[in-house]
Amino acid sequence: MEKQAMYYGGYLQLDKVLDAQHPVSFEKGNEPAHDEMLFIVIHQAYELWFKQILFELDYVMQVFAQEKINDNSEDLNLVRHRLNRIIQIIQLLNQQVNILDTMTPLDFLEFRNLLTPSSGFQSKQFRLLEARLGLQLDKRHHKEYYKRTNEGGFTQPDYQHITDTETQASLLQLVNNWLERMPFFTDAYWKDYQSTAPDSLSHHPFWNDYRHIYQTGLTEREQNKIGDFDYVFFERAPEGSSAEQLDLLRSNFSPAAMRSALFIMLYRDFPMFQTSYQILDALIEIDHLMSNWRHKHLIMVRRMIGMRVGTGNTSGAGYLEGALSKHYVYRDLSGLSTYLIERKKLPRLPEELIRNLGFMH
Ligand code: HEM
Repeated sequence: MEKQAMYYGGYLQLDKVLDAQHPVSFEKGNEPAHDEMLFIVIHQAYELWFKQILFELDYVMQVFAQEKINDNSEDLNLVRHRLNRIIQIIQLLNQQVNILDTMTPLDFLEFRNLLTPSSGFQSKQFRLLEARLGLQLDKRHHKEYYKRTNEGGFTQPDYQHITDTETQASLLQLVNNWLERMPFFTDAYWKDYQSTAPDSLSHHPFWNDYRHIYQTGLTEREQNKIGDFDYVFFERAPEGSSAEQLDLLRSNFSPAAMRSALFIMLYRDFPMFQTSYQILDALIEIDHLMSNWRHKHLIMVRRMIGMRVGTGNTSGAGYLEGALSKHYVYRDLSGLSTYLIERKKLPRLPEELIRNLGFMH
């Protein structure tokens, strides 16, 4: 039998995709609201892009889930490449808010009541994205909102899917484990290292030196930062600090993972650290862009509905503000800038270490 020639609309299944926009206000008995079409199209476009992001994340997580990752394989480079693609997509999603902004609050009022109690809050893909990146239920603003399966909450199957995903290893945990496996501080590589710090604090010689250089570079007002340093990298909490204060310093990554991450950031100019550095930087950027989106969405919502409650039955703008300030996932990594020192003061790496960093970890 002759093979049918591929046809554009058939390949893309456009009959399905383009037959999925049905404004409720256009139904019999309702007053057609012109802007409801835009409202539907824009949400669908978001969901398609969420799908692509999750697809890219599947690959990234599959690489990090391996017990060992070979630095010289294509894996890490593809991870970097695909995280970068996710960044470009979220940038586009942020710009899409501008299109929605062409709808006025009065235009929205024409069909808003017809939507109740559905809301973007119920976007399963958005929740899966957050959970896979590493946002834990316990750290969510108003976590009780997420446990709803009544009106305004999730359907039972969606709820189950989100909950199951939350219990699996997130990208954050996988990256944490990968960082912990880094062999940078293996004693054998540091045999010939000349320590410069006057005192030894029972740390690895590199960290003794680094801590000393960091401390001497702090201004008078910053002296307390050395206590933060000891907590972030060595789990020694400054006296009298509360759990909340400590949580702000480091909440998701282990001290060992933070040590590797800082080391990568410090020596990023060495080609062997480049890919790892770009991966960490991409995670920080994704967090940053997600937060930009939350902010743009919040401002748009304030303009659109003021202080009214959301169709999804949260407090509306109030809820969104809390989510904006609390739902960072990679805050620990972006916080590493606090502990950087000037390039010219960096301890010189031992030859043995440089020779041995064609590693698997
Ligand atoms: C007229 C436009 C929009 C309004 C007035 C609006 C309003 C709201 C409100 C009030 C909430 C809080 C939950 C609730 O009580 O409903 C919310 C959450 C949310 N909306 Fe929108 N929204 C709009 C457009 C969009 C679009 C285009 C998307 C794209 C997918 C979206 C995605 C979300 C998401 C993901 C949440 C949960 C945010 C979080 O938990 O951090 N919204 N929206």
